[in-house]
Amino acid sequence: MPYSLLAIPQWLFLKGKMCGIVGYVGEREALPIILESLKRIEYRGYDSCGVFVLENGDSKLHKDAGTIDHLKENLSESEYLGGGKIAIGHTRWATHGGPSKKNAHPHLDGKGEIAVVHNGIIENFQSIKEMLLSQGCEFVSETDTEVIPHLINRSFKKFDQAVNAAQIKEAVKEALSHLTGSYAIIVAVKGFDGLVAARNESPLIIGVGDRENFIASDVPAVLEQTNRIIYLEEGDIAVVEKDSIYIENGGAEVKREEKLIEWTIGDAEKGGYEHFMLKEIHEEPRAIMDTLRGYLVEEEINFGVDFKVEGDAKGKSILMVACGTSYYAAMCGKQIIENLAKVPVQVELASEFNYSDFVLDGTKVMVMAITQSGETADTLMALKKAKRYGCKTVAITNVLDSSATRIADETIYIRAGPEIGVAATKSFIAQLVIFYLLGLFLSKMPASEFLEHLEELKRMPQIAQMVLDEADINIRKHAGYLSKYEHAFFVGRGVNLPIALEGALKLKEISYIHAEGYAAGELKHGPFALLTEDTPVIAILTPDNTYEKTLGNMKEIKARGAPVIAIAEEGDEEVEKYVDEVIRVPETSAIFSPIPNTVALHLLAYWTAKARGCEIDKPRNLAKSVTVE
Ligand code: M6R
Repeated sequence: MPYSLLAIPQWLFLKGKMCGIVGYVGEREALPIILESLKRIEYRGYDSCGVFVLENGDSKLHKDAGTIDHLKENLSESEYLGGGKIAIGHTRWATHGGPSKKNAHPHLDGKGEIAVVHNGIIENFQSIKEMLLSQGCEFVSETDTEVIPHLINRSFKKFDQAVNAAQIKEAVKEALSHLTGSYAIIVAVKGFDGLVAARNESPLIIGVGDRENFIASDVPAVLEQTNRIIYLEEGDIAVVEKDSIYIENGGAEVKREEKLIEWTIGDAEKGGYEHFMLKEIHEEPRAIMDTLRGYLVEEEINFGVDFKVEGDAKGKSILMVACGTSYYAAMCGKQIIENLAKVPVQVELASEFNYSDFVLDGTKVMVMAITQSGETADTLMALKKAKRYGCKTVAITNVLDSSATRIADETIYIRAGPEIGVAATKSFIAQLVIFYLLGLFLSKMPASEFLEHLEELKRMPQIAQMVLDEADINIRKHAGYLSKYEHAFFVGRGVNLPIALEGALKLKEISYIHAEGYAAGELKHGPFALLTEDTPVIAILTPDNTYEKTLGNMKEIKARGAPVIAIAEEGDEEVEKYVDEVIRVPETSAIFSPIPNTVALHLLAYWTAKARGCEIDKPRNLAKSVTVE
């Protein structure tokens, strides 16, 4: 029977969100701290937000559709500085259930005494809601989250009496035992001078302070206040008071190590740039350098990962799963690894892999999940599926202790530093660096060849910097020109085909220009029909074994009237005969050309979006990590 509508879980139609949650308990005015923390993680969602403050035995709820700034503007001074020392907050990104005041978190129980902020999806909320409705509960929102405060209330029998931490923790645990799905939650209860937090498949951290503690989805939310971080693990439930943190898992107390975060809030802020994206593009040389430093000591590459897969070594291969920009990085990684190491690599979109009848021999294939955030739902599912096949799994991610690292057998961190702009930039380039290192590490090439490649790889921070220093002005000029169009093509071949796809994705997501990435030789098989003087073509023209052919393709494109901007190496004069404009990048060997070409295309997308007056860091309809399928 075909996959029927009835077979699709109802929540897929109704709910789904990715959000940021925060909590504060201490001796200071909680509301300004909560609002500031929420702003730091607004990249996780920004269509509605809210806060719940416990104030001298009373409580206040402020929430609305729109941004944190909008919420703040509507708070009077007395509300803003009301004296409350405990608060929770939420910033939301809705896919269903509309961004509205009623759907904004926190959500309350019927008595307004229990408030919950939640990131994740409660898959069975519909049946729970029906059960609660039949018991007389009233619901005000369309969210899945609202069942949680009602469940806690129901579990907490002695609610009219004074409440203590142990009772509340037990009530939360009992409520959670009814839920299936993913959640990171923070619970505030009137009459209790603390907060309860729990996680299951959604990230949650505790920031440890002095006579105060913080809870958040992500480190940047608390980094201005403290760099002492505890990462909660799956199934953890924590009672956080101003002087104490108690964590339990599976019914027993557990100790979680406190980690000192080395990056400062400055790292997570714009550092003088107008947008995070521009700052992050300018951090690409550093991301390359830091990633190299993590795994390269002099001439030795060491990932600290056991790459052996069981079975016949001859059959050994790699399967990469990823989404979006990380998928394009993986596509490029395939070519890099196959070129350098001659190890076969297959690349699959995680969202397709999850539902395909994939033929996979777990004893021979190592599965690598490429994910900046480590939280992309499709990629996490793919990792789990790979494990079911019996494959050895490796997460390649940027985020310490993210969900991918907990699922995979091994982890390789890309060391790009926090990436806040929704459009991935420095993480993409750092992913490429991992693939160069992997290709060399797995290769059996002669030592002299290995060292030659390694030397070139070590020059990549400098090469990326040269693009930023020398090509930027020229790129801005071309961006001004590109910004006038509504359609564009990006073409490349070989190792630069994924870079063309990445260039097109970046342009469309932040400038809203319709951009298509294509293999240069493929336009003639259909897309030629679309070429006119209004469809500029951005062509990557790296001198490699496809160079002559690609020049020929340029001739064909120009014959159809489309203007061509080439990304070409310094000193390549031949190219000028075939194209209208040239963006120059430093010379490298072909296999390393994705690095300068990527920097150039990231800048081109940025300046084009800027010329069109776009939002850039928060493009419409997108969020940084996509934690729903
Ligand atoms: O965190 P991940 O690398 O798993 O994210 C995958 C995609 O959602 C992400 O790359 C997305 O395509 C970016 N917005 C692209 O700039």
